[in-house]
Amino acid sequence: MKQQNITPVLAFSPVQSVNMAGFTFFIKRDDLLNPHFSGNKARKFAYFLNNDFPGVKKIVGHGSVQANSLYSLSALAKLKGWQLDFYVRNIPGWLKARPNGNYRAALALDANIIELDKRSLDEGTNLDAFMRLKAQHLPSGTLFMPEGGRCKQAKQGIAQLAEEIKDFCLQKALQKPVIMLPSGTGTTALFLQSLLPYKVLTCACVGDQQYLTEQFSELDSDNSVWPTILPSRKRYQFGKLYPEFYQIWLQLKQQTGIEFDLLYDPLGWLSLLDYLKHNSSQQNIIYIHQGGLIGNESMLPRYQRKYSREC
Ligand SMILES: Cc1ncc(COP(=O)(O)O)c(C=O)c1O
Repeated sequence: MKQQNITPVLAFSPVQSVNMAGFTFFIKRDDLLNPHFSGNKARKFAYFLNNDFPGVKKIVGHGSVQANSLYSLSALAKLKGWQLDFYVRNIPGWLKARPNGNYRAALALDANIIELDKRSLDEGTNLDAFMRLKAQHLPSGTLFMPEGGRCKQAKQGIAQLAEEIKDFCLQKALQKPVIMLPSGTGTTALFLQSLLPYKVLTCACVGDQQYLTEQFSELDSDNSVWPTILPSRKRYQFGKLYPEFYQIWLQLKQQTGIEFDLLYDPLGWLSLLDYLKHNSSQQNIIYIHQGGLIGNESMLPRYQRKYSREC
């Protein structure tokens, strides 16, 4: 595979000040880091991009066929001249016929997306557990990436993000800044909290609060460095469509001019606005835009089909 001749600059994303729902927020635009490699995956995978791995020819990952990490790993593999083997439980027939979103973008970067057949992975078996076992028997020259980039190496790129946030707060002389970012595996929020002298807020988008604290404890057993998890109004299922998610997403677009992702950010903003109802004196909120916009290519038509007439 030919290595691409683009060296992405993965640092110093801009910060934009916006008004939303009567508050002023600073948005850290990590979605603008680089067109090929942006958002929190760019931060989490920076270690792999910036270091040499002599002998490595292939990277192996897994997750959902529309995962943001599928696209970002494809970009990483392309930039490093590696092959990407990405394992998924299944690829729906309609998606194979008309690829879109992260699946389409990953195919365009030559990702090898492997559908596990029912014999190797039955309904009841967890894909992550299956792949962790598989990772123990991979041939040399293969790098295994845990789902969603949940690994200690992610800390290097997140440390760069923390430095940028500190620089911004010092430059603007912000009093008691608070950082907010929604979590999946919790890797980004946890490392940020462990690296920053400011309060980091997050919310659990995949699974419940207990799931998120379990994820934190796997990365760092010291709960004094864990971020604060904001409660959700109700139990949301990751990837499902909710009218209040579409509404807040539209409102954000109208009021700030910024497109956010449709999987994590709606819950991030709803949780943050609920928090501000009881903490209205809290100023200087920095919201991290963690990218994921290619995923909107598949999510937005789903929302439009379902709710456009109602919203
Ligand atoms: C757009 C977006 N926001 C938030 C997250 C959650 O990040 P983390 O898994 O580090 O909690 C992800 C997943 O990496 C993502 O793609």
